[in-house]
Amino acid sequence: MSARRLVQVINGQPASDGAGVSLVRVIGQPALMQLDPFLLLDAFRSDDPDDYIAGFPPHPHRGFETVTYLLNGRMRHADNAGHEGVIESGGVQWMTAGRGIVHSEMPEQEDGLLEGFQLWINLPSSHKLSQPRYQEHARDRIPEETREGGRVRVIAGSTSRGTRGPVDQPLTDPLYLDVSLDPGAGFSEALDSGHSAFVYVIEGQLALTDDSEIPTTLSRDQLGILDQGDEVKLAAGDNGVRFLLIAGRPLGEPIARGGPFVMNTEAEVGQAFADFRAGNF
Ligand code: CO
Repeated sequence: MSARRLVQVINGQPASDGAGVSLVRVIGQPALMQLDPFLLLDAFRSDDPDDYIAGFPPHPHRGFETVTYLLNGRMRHADNAGHEGVIESGGVQWMTAGRGIVHSEMPEQEDGLLEGFQLWINLPSSHKLSQPRYQEHARDRIPEETREGGRVRVIAGSTSRGTRGPVDQPLTDPLYLDVSLDPGAGFSEALDSGHSAFVYVIEGQLALTDDSEIPTTLSRDQLGILDQGDEVKLAAGDNGVRFLLIAGRPLGEPIARGGPFVMNTEAEVGQAFADFRAGNF
């Protein structure tokens, strides 16, 4: 096994999106526009309703997937095809926008803590215009693996110990793990050597121990890009750590972005805007 090394640390940037939701943009900002196949990662965490109450009123998407994973709080989701529901704490909504949906994502609470993530995952050109699809799983549908000194919630993909998450996406074969480690505990996991991979620290401190055994420490709201290799070896800091470990197969295709549309060419982005304006979503 060859352990992946940390090649770059990205600091999440404060940003505002939707109708004025305060968030931390981690992927999709100047320091890291994308990490193929990942197009965007936003983290939101606040107990001040002014930071989130405006939510994300109706807006379109085409050409990729949005993955909303909530740690705390409730978000109501509704789209123009009549699909509606509430994502609750510990649950995930994996939305394949495909050829297009118009949806809203609004907090289903007027106070209290709202905390979670939205990750955008690209689709290959062959599937950018596919039928929209939802994979929604409440907290109790997401398996939690217990390890020595740690717990691993498996949202997508499989761990080396055979725990399989409920989300199915063979196009990019994503791994999406929410890992909590006790103070000083170690953690290792096999990764597909050809896949892009990163860690993102939610709370506490995380040390990466590569072959040279020199640890590099990451803190809250920092993302660490991992280089190639078929294993990742990590350890918690003195106060423990909670982090996301996310990996997926890069698509290696040209990326043309236009706001909520991510296609392969500028002409396709222009077509998406035209279709949206014409009410063809
Ligand atoms: Co959206």
